[in-house]
Amino acid sequence: MFGMMLEKIKDFVVYDADREFYAKVFPDSVGRKDLMRLRKMRSSDLPGVLAIERANYQFPWGEDIFKDCFKANYSCWVCEESDNILGYCILAMAVGEAHVLNICVAPAEQGQGIGRKMMENLIEMSRGRAETLFLEVRPSNAVAIALYEDMGFNEIGIRKGYYPAKNGREDAIMLALEIF
Ligand SMILES: CC(C)(COP(=O)(O)OP(=O)(O)OC[C@H]1O[C@@H](n2cnc3c(N)ncnc32)[C@H](O)[C@@H]1OP(=O)(O)O)[C@@H](O)C(=O)NCCC(=O)NCCS
Repeated sequence: MFGMMLEKIKDFVVYDADREFYAKVFPDSVGRKDLMRLRKMRSSDLPGVLAIERANYQFPWGEDIFKDCFKANYSCWVCEESDNILGYCILAMAVGEAHVLNICVAPAEQGQGIGRKMMENLIEMSRGRAETLFLEVRPSNAVAIALYEDMGFNEIGIRKGYYPAKNGREDAIMLALEIF
């Protein structure tokens, strides 16, 4: 019973509260990354999320798409630090497989390990529920590809004309990670 409750709580907050205590007592012992928390995205987060989305993508998702993700019960998360949203990620779970639909970090916060931390959490969430984690990425997105490959994703194919682009459409590289 307690185990079930704990699992439920972990679904909402991916965070070790002890770290906050240690950070206060031994400020040098806990890094910034350890104090960021991942929690479920709420509709009140959407203005902040949309600002990050628009700052990052040439063809950003509109509010309606995020709302559809809530409706579809996708796993929608924000990474925050003192009420400030640094990034977000969205995972769709189906039978045996999970799909990363969006992962995005505020431009000023990129390159500090936040994307990696969110992806580690998505992998952890998928463990036991899915055997494979899929995602699509633009071939031009070298930073994201470097992160995914470093985390063990492998290229499994190309989706022709998957993304809108300035001059028509751009292909997507499909990547997959086997989860053990
Ligand atoms: C892709 C993205 C989510 C990565 O998040 P991030 O917080 O910037 O990345 P991290 O700091 O966790 O870096 C993880 C890895 O990415 C790669 N990386 C990050 N910044 C990089 C840079 N400027 N140049 C090259 N590689 C880089 C490195 O492999 C890095 O590994 P390291 O920590 O061992 O150096 C983020 O850059 C982003 O939001 N980009 C815009 C939106 C986007 O393209 N999303 C992905 C759509 S598929």
